[in-house]
Amino acid sequence: MKKIITKSAKETQQLAFDYTKKIEKGQVVCFQGELGAGKTTFIQGILKSLNAKGPYTSPTFVIMKKYDVKHAIIDTVYHIDAYRIDHSALFDLGWEEIIQNKKALILLEWPEKIEKSLPKNARLIKFKWIDENSRELVFS
Ligand SMILES: Nc1ncnc2c1ncn2[C@@H]1O[C@H](COP(=O)(O)OP(=O)(O)O)[C@@H](O)[C@H]1O
Ligand SMILES: [Mg+2]
Repeated sequence: MKKIITKSAKETQQLAFDYTKKIEKGQVVCFQGELGAGKTTFIQGILKSLNAKGPYTSPTFVIMKKYDVKHAIIDTVYHIDAYRIDHSALFDLGWEEIIQNKKALILLEWPEKIEKSLPKNARLIKFKWIDENSRELVFS
């Protein structure tokens, strides 16, 4: 477990750049924390460092955004915001196929909404609002 406090959105994205280097094959990364805690900001940092084609709009209303990337172990990034969905909606998105693809990177906001469907090796980053420009990130 590692705890880091960032003092700006830019610092959070810098952390995301470093984090991208440590992503493994077929990884699901879960982002937990209240609205405005910085989950999407961190994910945008990952997308940027993978050179995914922007804009990196939040998938709050579309639920899922898919990005093709050119990377040694990743060919597709899925950014999913599970805030408004449940298990059956997740199935409808094609979750079963998506997690079979070992070259997919899945970045998931609000994992607590679909906890039962998560693979055991999913990683977790917890975000906490400290003040206007500070956030605490806990990596486990
Ligand atoms: N240290 C920080 N880390 C991340 N975001 C920050 C930070 N300080 C301020 N912010 C701002 O907080 C907001 C976080 O929003 P967002 O990333 O969409 O949160 P979430 O996806 O968790 O709802 C952004 O407007 C961002 O600019
Ligand atoms: Mg978000």
